[in-house]
Amino acid sequence: MKGTSVNNRFESAPTLNFDTSWTSPPKDLTLGEDEVHVWRAALSVQGLHVQSLLRTLTADERARAERFHFQKDREQFIVARGLLRTILGRYLDVDPRQLRFAYSSYGKPSLAGEFNAEALCFNLSHADGLALYAVTRGRQLGIDIESVRADLADEQVAERFFSIQEVAAFRALPGNMQCLAFFNCWTRKEAYIKARGEGLSLPLDQFDVSLAPGTPAALLRTYGDHREVSRWSLRELALETGSVAALAVEGHGWRLKCYHWPKESHEAAALEA
Ligand SMILES: CC(C)(COP(=O)(O)OP(=O)(O)OC[C@H]1O[C@@H](n2cnc3c(N)ncnc32)[C@H](O)[C@@H]1OP(=O)(O)O)[C@@H](O)C(=O)NCCC(=O)NCCS
Repeated sequence: MKGTSVNNRFESAPTLNFDTSWTSPPKDLTLGEDEVHVWRAALSVQGLHVQSLLRTLTADERARAERFHFQKDREQFIVARGLLRTILGRYLDVDPRQLRFAYSSYGKPSLAGEFNAEALCFNLSHADGLALYAVTRGRQLGIDIESVRADLADEQVAERFFSIQEVAAFRALPGNMQCLAFFNCWTRKEAYIKARGEGLSLPLDQFDVSLAPGTPAALLRTYGDHREVSRWSLRELALETGSVAALAVEGHGWRLKCYHWPKESHEAAALEA
């Protein structure tokens, strides 16, 4: 569910106390065993750079790009995939064009064959021209960003997608908190689903996440394998008003570093291509 921000109730929601801040990446990029790096990047870039990033894509990725009906969607896919290749290439010290991906039966991409030697795991999400990339080693992870749309954040939609406990928690909140709570719930559920990589074969009503604004992101309950709750940790990611994002990572005790992909690096990535 991606879309344009239309939001009044969100504006009056309480400000959250995030412990994530976005910084420029260091020149010497290293990913420690206990680290998770999240990158944010704008996907609207100049045509010249789109063409250069296109050159980093494989034939099947280019064919996929061609299938987008609208030029804007096509270009954003090219930039998102080109930057994914560039970012992963930097960790692996490999030319982005050489990287190969494998896909799970539900479509989750991972590094293929020889490129998986360092157990680099990643996931990405994009909405309204902004992409988030999460990268770590040896742990599954999932990330989701959504544009806040007050017109979607109502009880009927909550009843359709959320668990009974989540709907009850949503209803119990004051009206001015419900929009943010809705998107907290949505992004946390989606991040968990994406970390598991099984798409919607994982029933949405079979697990509960926290959603109240101002409370920590968490997987609260699972109705199948109860060990799942202790297997995963969830985090909310600080973004400007109008977007909400969440990260689900296997295990605990990892440290989060958040980097913004500098605009000028679009040029650098394109020049590298
Ligand atoms: C891919 C999926 C998991 C998320 O889709 P989405 O939210 O529209 O898209 P996002 O931008 O967050 O993520 C897309 C990226 O996730 C990755 N991805 C694709 N399939 C995936 C899967 N099964 N698991 C994890 N990641 C996946 C890809 O890298 C994809 O980017 P790409 O298309 O550029 O290669 C989608 O198939 C899905 O099942 N969505 C569930 C929708 C829903 O009803 N959610 C309710 C939440 S309450």
